[in-house]
Amino acid sequence: MAVDTKAGAGVFSEENTAKREELIELLKKAYWMEIETVMSYTANSINPDGVRAQEIVEHLEQDIQEELGHAQQFGKRIKELYGVVPGSMDFSAEQSYLQPPEQQTDVVHVIRGVIEAENGAIEHYQRIIEFCDDFDLVTQDMLIAIQRDEQGHKRLFEGFLREYEAEGRA
Ligand SMILES: [Fe+2]
Ligand SMILES: [Fe+2]
Repeated sequence: MAVDTKAGAGVFSEENTAKREELIELLKKAYWMEIETVMSYTANSINPDGVRAQEIVEHLEQDIQEELGHAQQFGKRIKELYGVVPGSMDFSAEQSYLQPPEQQTDVVHVIRGVIEAENGAIEHYQRIIEFCDDFDLVTQDMLIAIQRDEQGHKRLFEGFLREYEAEGRA
């Protein structure tokens, strides 16, 4: 029976150099997504006005720390794969939906923006999880754990949105 040595050769093998570099690029994108989320959640945890905004603000404050932790994990994995964590000049922003709303009492805008950011992360991380199949189970394991955090964030903010929708405010 023929054995496919390439499939089991792993992320550090010579023949997988190109694929490892491709993985590093996917991880750099993930790193930037986390960094931008830290920026967006910071602004959106400070700007909102009103009694109802406080719950959202408190959760965003917690999430900032988690997203920063994710960025650090992605950075460390990039290094372990012999890549280099990019500098700030390589950054380009994408989260148009998490810019400050017209009115700072518009909490629904923030909630929807957070859900969109979490969806974007979940989608990209799913792609990396699949890319890592039979190739890099260590990166895959890390991504699965981070994926769960993002699913938790998304679910929490979907709950907030439901409440607003039930009251006819969204
Ligand atoms: Fe994250
Ligand atoms: Fe998240």
